[in-house]
Amino acid sequence: MKRGLLVVLLMGFFGLCGLGVLTLGWMWYQDDRPPVQPIAFSHERHVSQVKLPCEHCHQNARKGPQATVPPMSVCAACHAQMKTGNPEVLKLQSYLKEGRPVEWTKVHRLPWHVLFTHKRHLAAGVACQTCHGQVAVMPRMRKLRSLQMGWCVGCHRDKGASRDCWTCHK
Ligand code: HEC
Ligand code: HEC
Ligand code: HEC
Ligand code: HEC
Ligand code: HEC
Repeated sequence: MKRGLLVVLLMGFFGLCGLGVLTLGWMWYQDDRPPVQPIAFSHERHVSQVKLPCEHCHQNARKGPQATVPPMSVCAACHAQMKTGNPEVLKLQSYLKEGRPVEWTKVHRLPWHVLFTHKRHLAAGVACQTCHGQVAVMPRMRKLRSLQMGWCVGCHRDKGASRDCWTCHK
């Protein structure tokens, strides 16, 4: 009787451990995967082949906290009149015709209690690639860095930037 109970408890225990490992694994996998976007936009195409600088599209990076995704007018400049059979460009053109913006799924997101600003980092000469990786060869945008506190503080230590808690927290 007692042994039966022990076996059941042990099975329950290992079962829960297994479930935990699977859940963590799944979360990790999801975290690393590029999200599916409404239009299959490729940084590789636009940066490596069309040779556009990052700030042609992310125009606010140097001006404030957020780099921001480009407004539709930036895409329209090249794509509105483009003759194409590419289904993804056709999709973009129908957005443009209807005058509605593409709702891109966010790839990076810091928790609400963290303060971050692009402006200061760019003014200090930190390159986009240092934090976002080799975007020029990404057919789909994905998050490369953990964006965890240790990563921020590590660089602040190396570069002599502030490590005061209130620098990054509100
Ligand atoms: C032709 C315009 C264009 C150019 C040039 C461009 N981007 Fe983007 N970028 C976008 C669009 C549109 C999105 C949103 C769709 C996506 O995530 O793929 C985006 C998304 C991003 C994101 C993710 C935003 C988020 O949701 O967290 C990062 C980071 C980024 N771009 C960095 C760069 C860097 C670095 C460069 C230069 C090497 C660059 N981009 C060049 C248009 C552009
Ligand atoms: C010091 C590291 C760092 C550098 C340098 C950097 N970024 Fe970012 N970027 C981040 C972090 C962290 C986030 C997430 C911010 C958030 O969630 O508020 C982010 C978010 C973004 C986003 C989506 C949210 C937003 O701010 O609009 C875009 C687009 C982006 N970065 C583009 C760029 C481009 C383009 C450059 C270079 C011109 C660049 N970043 C340079 C760290 C960096
Ligand atoms: C400076 C011109 C230019 C700008 C600005 C531009 N594109 Fe493109 N884009 C191109 C060219 C050139 C191609 C390749 C077309 C082809 O091969 O049929 C392309 C291809 C594409 C494709 C097809 C997929 C692929 O990789 O071939 C999509 C989707 C796309 N662009 C979306 C966008 C979006 C969204 C924006 C605005 C954020 C944008 N483009 C801004 C020039 C531009
Ligand atoms: C690759 C290096 C690097 C990384 C990674 C980095 N930073 Fe920084 N950060 C700097 C540098 C250098 C400065 C100093 C700029 C200056 O002195 O004007 C700075 C300045 C700042 C400032 C303004 C400081 C002030 O005195 O007002 C804030 C806020 C900040 N970083 C937050 C963050 C956060 C949050 C992260 C992580 C999500 C992060 N940083 C990641 C290099 C980095
Ligand atoms: C350079 C920027 C930076 C500095 C300095 C910094 N933090 Fe953070 N902190 C972060 C970021 C980014 C996160 C979000 C991490 C994440 O999402 O995993 C964070 C998360 C946290 C959390 C939440 C824990 C968690 O896992 O989400 C606490 C608590 C915290 N920080 C306390 C502090 C204290 C105390 C200090 C001063 C000794 C400090 N931080 C200094 C960037 C910073």
